[in-house]
Amino acid sequence: MSRREQLARDLGRARERTLRLVDLDDAELRRQYDPLMSPLVWDLAHIGQQEELWLLRGGDGTRPGMLPPEIDSLYDAFQHPRAGRGALPLLSPDEARAYCRAVRSAALDTLDALPEHQLGDPMGCADRSEGTAAWSDPGFVFAMVVSHEHQHNETMLQALNLRRGAPLLRATATVPAGRPGLAGTSVLVPGGPFVLGVDGADEPFALDNERPAHLVDVPAFRIGRVPVTNGEWQQFVDDGGYTNPRWWSPRGWEHRQRAGLTAPQFWNGDGTRTRFGYVETIPADEPVQHVSYFEAEAYAAWAGARLPTEIEWEKACAWDPATGSRRRYPWGHDEPSATRANLGGAALRPAPVGAYPAGASAYGAEQMIGDVWEWTSSPLRPWPGFVPMIYQRYSQPFFGGDYRVLRGGSWAVEPGILRPSFRNWDHPYRRQIFCGVRLAWSVPDGEVREPA
Ligand code: AVJ
Ligand code: FE
Repeated sequence: MSRREQLARDLGRARERTLRLVDLDDAELRRQYDPLMSPLVWDLAHIGQQEELWLLRGGDGTRPGMLPPEIDSLYDAFQHPRAGRGALPLLSPDEARAYCRAVRSAALDTLDALPEHQLGDPMGCADRSEGTAAWSDPGFVFAMVVSHEHQHNETMLQALNLRRGAPLLRATATVPAGRPGLAGTSVLVPGGPFVLGVDGADEPFALDNERPAHLVDVPAFRIGRVPVTNGEWQQFVDDGGYTNPRWWSPRGWEHRQRAGLTAPQFWNGDGTRTRFGYVETIPADEPVQHVSYFEAEAYAAWAGARLPTEIEWEKACAWDPATGSRRRYPWGHDEPSATRANLGGAALRPAPVGAYPAGASAYGAEQMIGDVWEWTSSPLRPWPGFVPMIYQRYSQPFFGGDYRVLRGGSWAVEPGILRPSFRNWDHPYRRQIFCGVRLAWSVPDGEVREPA
């Protein structure tokens, strides 16, 4: 398949997923389920507006677009915080669908008109020195737009999860059974250097904040073989974890008090949880979801552990000490599949721990990719040599802000946009995302290092 066909296919798949998510009546699409999330109809038109901006308007909006400027600007995320989006004079659902269709049709014409050599073979951004030239590949911009649409699909799922009332979505895939005995266990990652981040030569579609690849030395550490489970979290609750300031950072405790936290979001206090409108018994062996960074930090302290840094996390996920090189995925080079990771959104839930032995990393960590986004202790910062991509405000405005990095993707993430180097971030007090926790432990100095 040519790169052109691949990009057209990926655009098509993203749109199918978007349209399935907005296959709801108008009133539903205009509702704002929670001040934290946009009405679904905002996401829909925003997907089209960004696609038009990056693919048809050269990225700076100086070229006139299809929408009147005052309407176009309603979909600028920086001008309109989420809480106020429900009150904006937004396009109607039909107008938004028609707009997205028109943009897509023009985008596909643009793609057709590009000579294949401009779409770059995977070496199109192969300049190892990277720099701005790495971003001139039009194929990259198409892939960036695909990633953007899929990321908003996950955002829309977060909104739908917050919606009250009878369920609108149903699972269209099941997950494999887990394996007992893994919760609470860990694997050793010996000390030694590894390659953090990626270059365009290896991952042409990697976003700006994942680049460039560079060598980092990491002291030995242990990391959870699997994410922390609901069953383990229940023990923290039962042990008074939410009422003992000892486990919490000062800021975390202050937040816990103000927000009145007593358990993960969507736990009902009677052994059940609500998920997309379904009330069900909390499965003990499933990774915990919907805890904030502050809660994750407190849990880790209670468990005699800490959160991994995102650098440790990436090494445990992608480094292969036997070859001294990165794997494309934890398990190797092959694309994600239903026996390796829970991705793509169809399951509507994480899989129990131990469900994917075939997805283990070189160090034996499982479920690094998919299931739940995992909080790390790292604030979002650029890697040395960072160069912003054409969408300059994707990463850069958030560097140094009040965010913590999450890694690994959730069950809702489209496999095609996810890599071990992919970085997500959110405020430390947020928990509407499909996020959970993997623990880490420092090990004494002098612990075994990788052979040099
Ligand atoms: C990378 C998931 C934090 O949702 O704010 C979507 C992705 N950026 N549109 C977000 C994004 C612009 C971003 N995260
Ligand atoms: Fe966006």
